[in-house]
Amino acid sequence: MRLALLGCGTVGGEVVRLLHEQSADLAARVGAPLELAGIAVRRLGRDRGELPVDPSLFTTDPLGLIKRDDVDVVVEVVGGIEPARGWLVEALRAGKSVVTANKALLAEDGGALHDAAAEGGADLYYEAAVAGAIPLLRPLRESLHGDRITRVTGIVNGTTNFILSAMDATGAGFAEALEEATELGYAEADPTADVEGFDAAAKAAILASLAFHTRVNAADVHREGITEVTAADVASAKAMGCTIKLLCIAARGVDAAGRETVNVRVHPAMIPLNHPLAGVGDAFNAVFVEAEAAGQLMFYGRGAGGAPTASAVLGDVVAVARNRLAGVRAASESAYADLSVRPMGEALTRYHVSLDVADRPGVLAAVAGVFARHGVSIATVRQGPAEGSTPGSGADADLVIVTHVAPDAALAATVSELRALDIVRSVTSVLRVEGGV
Ligand SMILES: NC(=O)c1ccc[n+]([C@@H]2O[C@H](COP(=O)([O-])OP(=O)(O)OC[C@H]3O[C@@H](n4cnc5c(N)ncnc54)[C@H](OP(=O)(O)O)[C@@H]3O)[C@@H](O)[C@H]2O)c1
Repeated sequence: MRLALLGCGTVGGEVVRLLHEQSADLAARVGAPLELAGIAVRRLGRDRGELPVDPSLFTTDPLGLIKRDDVDVVVEVVGGIEPARGWLVEALRAGKSVVTANKALLAEDGGALHDAAAEGGADLYYEAAVAGAIPLLRPLRESLHGDRITRVTGIVNGTTNFILSAMDATGAGFAEALEEATELGYAEADPTADVEGFDAAAKAAILASLAFHTRVNAADVHREGITEVTAADVASAKAMGCTIKLLCIAARGVDAAGRETVNVRVHPAMIPLNHPLAGVGDAFNAVFVEAEAAGQLMFYGRGAGGAPTASAVLGDVVAVARNRLAGVRAASESAYADLSVRPMGEALTRYHVSLDVADRPGVLAAVAGVFARHGVSIATVRQGPAEGSTPGSGADADLVIVTHVAPDAALAATVSELRALDIVRSVTSVLRVEGGV
């Protein structure tokens, strides 16, 4: 079984190492030896340390490598939309199975890859694209196919989880925690894709597509990052017995006409400390799946890093290699449900709102009136003097309101009207709340 490896960086280098170290076991598991036919890279002269591989295998011509007759399986660990899309479509149409870790491409145009796989009768596997080493996509696309998934809630970006965990542990602000993450190698020099939620949104699209048998692209995902989360927000969450996590949430719903829909979003949210995702610290990932018959399931582990990601890539390589030897193909894409994606404004969420208000009679009623006007029901209210002020002095007071579930648009409109009230000196924090607070 001959492999074309596209990319030999953080993940590709580990794929080469594991293929070498475990060659006998892999051959036994597959039923034939796995051999590298070639390795495509951008720079032939790059120092790759002591890779256990014949240097003559390296090439800068990925397409030429893919087209070779002696290549059975293409493993893509380059990343990005183009030229990767062109390579993989070419390989799949030619009947060569593909294993990829490319979440950006799958979330942008997974449909093109699935169509090419169907055309060429080839397998397309991508376990490494979401949550690194954690076996997650195979359970969604195989083990849970006898069930009905209702909701997927995940921490799928290690960088942001490291930053939020550090803010929670030390009281640091976002900038300080990001600096620590960069120093320790958890954040890239340009952290935009992580801290603005793009990476998590790509993964959310892939998870939603598999969980709900519907093509969901990154553009369908409502996305908010963590750059606006403050030390005060984290302190507010703590006071409520909660912590803040960047969550990816994909949930079934029903629209006004009674049709089933799906809502997919990525944003920071408060979750209670007794929620299974609250204890997921450092750069770890975890995904919480709720299904009608199975109930609650939790998948936890390392979501990134060369070796953990290569573990997932190799698992896929073994699966597609076995299929080829047996002359079979895995089940094709399951997108039959074709649910429509509900906009964020219609998503049902809860808000935690902290206000700095004037401490005088009637304030509470005026604030409650705004919520009522927008049809948002209040679950709890906590009021106390603002730091340094005397109760009843007419100076500022802190008001913390947690709502019941309401459409996100109604909550956003409530907050915007609160900001305009003269008795509201400032809206100090607005956070969505997930789980039973
Ligand atoms: N790193 C992780 O922890 C992780 C986790 C999950 C998924 N992934 C995904 O895995 C993929 C690879 O990530 P990585 O961290 O291994 O990236 P990386 O370290 O930047 O490696 C990229 C590799 O692709 C090669 N390459 C880039 N452009 C090329 C071109 N035009 N033609 C041929 N080769 C080209 C590079 O060649 P040179 O070596 O010559 O520069 C390098 O070997 C991405 O899709 C990423 O999202 C990564």
